[in-house]
Amino acid sequence: MNARSAMTEHGSFRLRTESKRLDVGGVVARGGGMGLPVWTGEMLTPPGVWGWSGAGLRLLETRAVRGVVEAALSRHAVGEVGANEVPGGGAWVVVVPGVTGAVEMPGLAALAIGEAFESSPLFTAACAEAGIDAGRAREDMPGACRYTARSALSAGRALALFRADAAELSEASEALSAFSAELSDAYETISLLYNIGRSMHNPGRADAFAREFLGRLRGATRFGWMAMSLDDLPQVPSVLASGLIADGADVSGGFGRAVSIAASRARASKESVIIKGPGAPAEFGGGAVLAQPIEIAGRTVGSLVAGRKGGGDPDLSSYDLQLAESAARFLGSHLHTCALFEGQQRMFVGTVHALSAAIDAKDPYTNGHSERVAHLARQLARACGMSDEQADRVHIAGLLHDVGKIGVPEAVLCKQGRLTDEEFALIKRHPEIGHRILRDIPLLSDILPGVLHHHERWDGRGYPANLEAERVPMLGRLIAICDAFDAMSSTRSYRRAMPRGHVLGEIERSAGTQHDPSLVPLFLGLDLSEYDRMVARAMGQASSPPAAAA
Ligand SMILES: [Fe+2]
Repeated sequence: MNARSAMTEHGSFRLRTESKRLDVGGVVARGGGMGLPVWTGEMLTPPGVWGWSGAGLRLLETRAVRGVVEAALSRHAVGEVGANEVPGGGAWVVVVPGVTGAVEMPGLAALAIGEAFESSPLFTAACAEAGIDAGRAREDMPGACRYTARSALSAGRALALFRADAAELSEASEALSAFSAELSDAYETISLLYNIGRSMHNPGRADAFAREFLGRLRGATRFGWMAMSLDDLPQVPSVLASGLIADGADVSGGFGRAVSIAASRARASKESVIIKGPGAPAEFGGGAVLAQPIEIAGRTVGSLVAGRKGGGDPDLSSYDLQLAESAARFLGSHLHTCALFEGQQRMFVGTVHALSAAIDAKDPYTNGHSERVAHLARQLARACGMSDEQADRVHIAGLLHDVGKIGVPEAVLCKQGRLTDEEFALIKRHPEIGHRILRDIPLLSDILPGVLHHHERWDGRGYPANLEAERVPMLGRLIAICDAFDAMSSTRSYRRAMPRGHVLGEIERSAGTQHDPSLVPLFLGLDLSEYDRMVARAMGQASSPPAAAA
């Protein structure tokens, strides 16, 4: 089936416009209450007549009675309400003709018996046919409701009014149910879009958003599964590019390939497509599948695909189509934001890396130091139980912790041999210089404590603020331990790199004096293999660095 022939009709809609046949059970019962046995076109035996019992009611089932009623009903199918005297007199068949309209009202016929009924040929014939004693039948048909030609006609008009009331009530009830269904759909739509809107707060987590989005949309539409396929385009967040994700189905095998084909049909036609019928992929199990294109900034970038509709109505409804369209618009808009945010983040991280490389380049002995400290600090943050997001911020703090060295003369920074007190005082200013450089950048406000306090000590003998123990911000404590490790592991202008075992011993001994005693064991448990590769890269070697091998 090609894309064009796949676009079939949109299923059943919630608001039905076809004529509906009125249920006249209530009108028949009300006729019975007036002493009138009432039949509809189906000629079912009237359920009851006020005051009548046993033999009286059995007469209503006879061919004699039913015959005159049926004949009057077919003779008088259209027009006004009429009272037709039965052959031989004594009773009238009142006919309320059927009416066709928005609500189809079936025709009604009632037998209005008069005072002379018990002496009429119809009564005699019916008693004979049913084998009922005429005296017994008279007893079971009390004379409280005896009609004349005039009152029979009035009773017929009353039945017509009851029927019109019932039709109006039915129409109103139908409109009310349609309205409540629409209201319920509108509520679900608003609720869905509200909840999707709430999960749009973080443009940095496009994958989590996409999965939550699919789950929520599936819940609101009662589809059994829902999938999303996006192309690898600059408008699409990289984490979702060229991917197929799903809620409620495994899209790793043949089913996924069928979903991808459905997605590409919608993408190619740039409008919603319903795939069903003999040409549809067998993986869809014969059910209808809806594919809705997703647009970002005027370009079709992928599709939403949904199938296995459940609930009371397995057909796709106009509500499903509208909701999928609105949701796809919402989705496209947020994914665009995510992609722009991603670009901005990439530029931001690139700038931070460039800045940290510039710092390290000032001193050839500290080449790659900031990158390594950042790497270790992120690992340590994860070991402390911080989230990925928090660990990313710790990484940025690690990259920029020594940015203040830009303000320290190179002659001091790269000096071979021992520093004078004045020179050391100059170096000790770098945390405050770094803090001053970065403090006006809103995107970096949370990492400033790491820059300012990474030379504080647990025992309070660090700088610049001599903070002690927990008063040292956590970012400062995390960076301090990683900074010390990398400094001891690297060759400096004034000494060779220390062997790994010696460095780890120093870190262990510094617990409670230089470093946070709760962080030291976590640091000692870190996997240093990537760190060693970073050292090797910085030294321009393919093998392990001397410090790591020692
Ligand atoms: Fe530093």
